[in-house]
Amino acid sequence: MSNKPSQKRKIEDYSREELIGLVKELKKRKKYGLVWEAKPEDVVERCKSELPVLEEVKERIIENNEGGLTNLIIEGDNYHALSVLNYTHAGKVDIIYIDPPYNTGASDWKYNNDYVDRNDTFRHSKWLSMMHSRLNLAKNLLKEEGALICAIDDYEVHHLGMMLEEMFPTYEIDLIVVAHHPQGAGSNTISRVHEYAFVCTPAGVGLKGRKIREGEDNWSLKRSGQGENNWRTHRPKQFYAIIVDEKARKVVDVGPEVPRDADKYPTSKTKEGFIRIYPIDREGKERVWRYNRSTMASLIAKGVIEFSERGALTVKKDVVSQVPAFSVWTDSRYNAGTHGSSLLTKIMGSANAFQYPKSLWTVYDLISLVHSNDDAVILDFFAGSGTTGHAVMQLNKEDEGRRQFILVTNNENNIAEDVTYSRIRKVIEGVPQLPEITGFPANVRYFKTAFVPKDEVSDNTRRALVARCTDMICVRENAFEKKYDNKQYKIYTDGVNATGILFDLDAIDDFKEKLTKLKLPVRLYIFSLSNDVFAEDFAELPMKHKLCPIPESILDVYRRIFT
Ligand SMILES: C[S@@+](CC[C@H](N)C(=O)[O-])C[C@H]1O[C@@H](n2cnc3c(N)ncnc32)[C@H](O)[C@@H]1O
Repeated sequence: MSNKPSQKRKIEDYSREELIGLVKELKKRKKYGLVWEAKPEDVVERCKSELPVLEEVKERIIENNEGGLTNLIIEGDNYHALSVLNYTHAGKVDIIYIDPPYNTGASDWKYNNDYVDRNDTFRHSKWLSMMHSRLNLAKNLLKEEGALICAIDDYEVHHLGMMLEEMFPTYEIDLIVVAHHPQGAGSNTISRVHEYAFVCTPAGVGLKGRKIREGEDNWSLKRSGQGENNWRTHRPKQFYAIIVDEKARKVVDVGPEVPRDADKYPTSKTKEGFIRIYPIDREGKERVWRYNRSTMASLIAKGVIEFSERGALTVKKDVVSQVPAFSVWTDSRYNAGTHGSSLLTKIMGSANAFQYPKSLWTVYDLISLVHSNDDAVILDFFAGSGTTGHAVMQLNKEDEGRRQFILVTNNENNIAEDVTYSRIRKVIEGVPQLPEITGFPANVRYFKTAFVPKDEVSDNTRRALVARCTDMICVRENAFEKKYDNKQYKIYTDGVNATGILFDLDAIDDFKEKLTKLKLPVRLYIFSLSNDVFAEDFAELPMKHKLCPIPESILDVYRRIFT
């Protein structure tokens, strides 16, 4: 007998056991919270028959920071990109900033290839389904102390707030009101000047607050710490001479970059009689300047680099302290017209490249509001015109940070290629018509999502996946410098570690010999139809190594997220 109450049955018709069963079922039901109709989404369904991978579009590489880390632009649906990032970046992301479509009813986004408009009675359910599946994948990428920031406006603010509370129960959630459109827009009765940003931080971590300037101080130009980034070997672009007119006590120029492997470089006076100063410490060790050549040259031009009476080179820096941030942001720097649309028009050289980009400074200040190191990984999976990438590079330029950005966007109306990539390329190279954008030292690689057919995860799927997983592994290890490449194996480095991918066990001896020559710690990805990594065959490698079976390690992740 069914234990569902039928219209014909009266309460006295139920047995005691049936009633107990019904009460138990009712107790399990949600009593408070957000309920919506889950709508199957094509991009999610696709992952039942195909597995997403990444493929690099090699000709879109941007290189303007030798030895620096690589930022990523990924073109594709963010559900697929986030799936791949679950393999490459699980637990590695410090900050997620997103600005999803606001679901205004004005056909501002598509669900299953159809625009969602105000007549669609399922519009909120569709939007929530879309956001829930993305945030569910994105959550796995955050570090334990990582933060999520999400821009939104009045159409979905309440639904999103409840969903965030449910999905991030251990986080503190702050809501900031941003006056992004001070001239106002909207109906005859209310003219809207604001939107919002949810800022979610793990309980106990809290917000950093906002900076206020308290004065100025002189900082040594020579790096003095013990970490890798203080030495010429790891930051060759920051090793060059600073040219000083000793008599006038004036810094006049910067010398050429000293090549990474050069043993000798000029140390005598220049023909004008100026002295050359290199970042050499008291023990004669080769350290580095705080900045690369071009930044140093612009600081010299600004007059903030000084040569003290005691012969020390210093830079004048603001002394700042942190105070609580306001919950309402009204400064003109948050105006999306001036610092979003107009800025983008000037960068791109044409108007209307993209509707509603954020103010650069809104994203910059939101990222600065949460705790993170200056080598944070920052992900935006609704990247649009790439404001987040621009803000990350701006932050790096100001504090010599090594933050990395990952921008994900679909290619609707060619956005990814024509706007996201193009803007990032232009600002890295410098925009002549904008004196404040003189370029950024940064490297970028461009990837597209692609798919491997999955036939019940057979050995064929395994082989197909392995054949197309090289780019994913390079992204995972941040190792893109190719050392060896043949059908049997590939070896890459990031200058500090090596990444070896062995497709054919017959080549193991040659593979090990090449790795040994590199004399670097290695991460090894070994093709295997099972979980076996043949550890004993690698035991005698002289350097530190870590083994990982492919494709099993990738399939493991996909099994977890797609089930
Ligand atoms: C509101 S805009 C973001 C604007 C961005 N913050 C800026 O300042 O330019 C949202 C972007 O996400 C993209 N998008 C929407 N749905 C997506 C999806 N499922 N996967 C990837 N990108 C998507 C849209 O094409 C659009 O470019």
